[in-house]
Amino acid sequence: MTRTSANPLYLQLYDHFREAIAHGRLSPGDRVPSVRSLASELGLARGTVELAFQVLVSEGYFMTRGAAGTIVAPGLGALTEPAHPVPALPTSHTRPAQGLDETGAAPFQLGLPALDAFPRKTWARLCGRHQRTLQTAGMTYPDPAGHEALRRAIATYLGISRGISCSHEQVFVTTGYRGALDLVRHTLLRAGDVGWYEDPGYLLARIFLERAGLKLQPVPVDDEGLNVNEGKKLAPKARFAVVTPTHQSPMGMALSLPRRLELLDWASSRKAWIIEDDYDSEFRYHGRPLPALKSLDHDERVLYTGTFSKVLIPGLRLAYLVVPASLVGTFRDEVTHLPGPGSIVPQAMIADFMTAGHFALHLRKMRALYATRRRYVVDALTEILGDRLFVQPQAGGIHILAHLKARRNDKHLASTACANGLAIRALSDWRLRKASSGGLLMGFANFASAADASAAVQRLDAVWRAA
Ligand SMILES: Cc1ncc(COP(=O)(O)O)c(C=O)c1O
Repeated sequence: MTRTSANPLYLQLYDHFREAIAHGRLSPGDRVPSVRSLASELGLARGTVELAFQVLVSEGYFMTRGAAGTIVAPGLGALTEPAHPVPALPTSHTRPAQGLDETGAAPFQLGLPALDAFPRKTWARLCGRHQRTLQTAGMTYPDPAGHEALRRAIATYLGISRGISCSHEQVFVTTGYRGALDLVRHTLLRAGDVGWYEDPGYLLARIFLERAGLKLQPVPVDDEGLNVNEGKKLAPKARFAVVTPTHQSPMGMALSLPRRLELLDWASSRKAWIIEDDYDSEFRYHGRPLPALKSLDHDERVLYTGTFSKVLIPGLRLAYLVVPASLVGTFRDEVTHLPGPGSIVPQAMIADFMTAGHFALHLRKMRALYATRRRYVVDALTEILGDRLFVQPQAGGIHILAHLKARRNDKHLASTACANGLAIRALSDWRLRKASSGGLLMGFANFASAADASAAVQRLDAVWRAA
């Protein structure tokens, strides 16, 4: 059995037993070793051996006899091909492509909040309470617009923290940010519609929108964020614009006030929609978070989105969309025909978490923690790799952008780092148009000490030197 084979280990084990039966090395009625002893003998995970056994049992080669163990099925004649051979998936189909994989928690994992600082105890208490007191509302079909208590809590939070005045009816809970984009495109857009997209801009949403048939016009960003004038020149008749005004993703600057007004003005005059992606505005290390673009939206052109992925955990897969009051009915009609955000239990738990004050406390703690952890990584990068990169100053967020000093292929560097277990992404992948300079995108929230950060940056240094 070899780990380098294209066949997964469980399939190799499955083949091994079938062959042994076919060649008479194992006869009907023979006892086979237990999963545990086989796993330890072959140095395999128990799950791998169990999987092979399950397939062999389901295909009639093995038979389980409870405490008496597993035997080769009695009466098994000459080996016949299984009715449904187990297909071996090509390895290229088992994981998303490099740069698109958001799963896991490898060092530098982008977009991941501090998992060790998640308030587990409070969460477990809320979870226990909700499971014990499951109400009828939690057992019937949920409202596809989201759990009302959570929508109310979000509306209150946005009023206080983001300067957005809205009623809970305008809030739609969605399955992540892409769930919010999906709802917008079903309700207001058509395939073929052109939209401005920040260049560079969030890779996964860009792919999502393109796959939905929308045409994205790259619009450059500069020190003041999206260059609205360029957008007007490049695609004056665009139907929508997707922007990250508080903290441009991934460059980190805020959209300046003149640009905000210019963008709103363009949207009003063209009757275009602005999708505001306010993904990590809660984390700002100097001064108060900037108010949302939506707070200036007097003509109802802005569709505002926020997510619980950074402020709580991405595993919840919960985000939200705030729609103009005049469009609540239209969105309601549409959302009725979509899958909605799933179970109400996690939604009800977040609502309690927010209304009981845990959320505000958690955010306050995380702001202080992230400022420290950011410093660990920036210091390590400057000390160990300062001759090869420089860190872009950023006022907030949970990622670092480091520009490469020399002309170098950032994609190659990032993919080599990934192959070595460091979840670093290339800035070039976030760009729609080619640019000469490269950069590395890195999450910093999970480095609990300066020593951890330094060790990870040293690993990157070693990868870099070898690449
Ligand atoms: C720019 C940007 N927007 C939105 C999101 C949130 O996505 P989701 O709600 O699907 O986790 C992310 C996550 O990393 C992001 O980087």
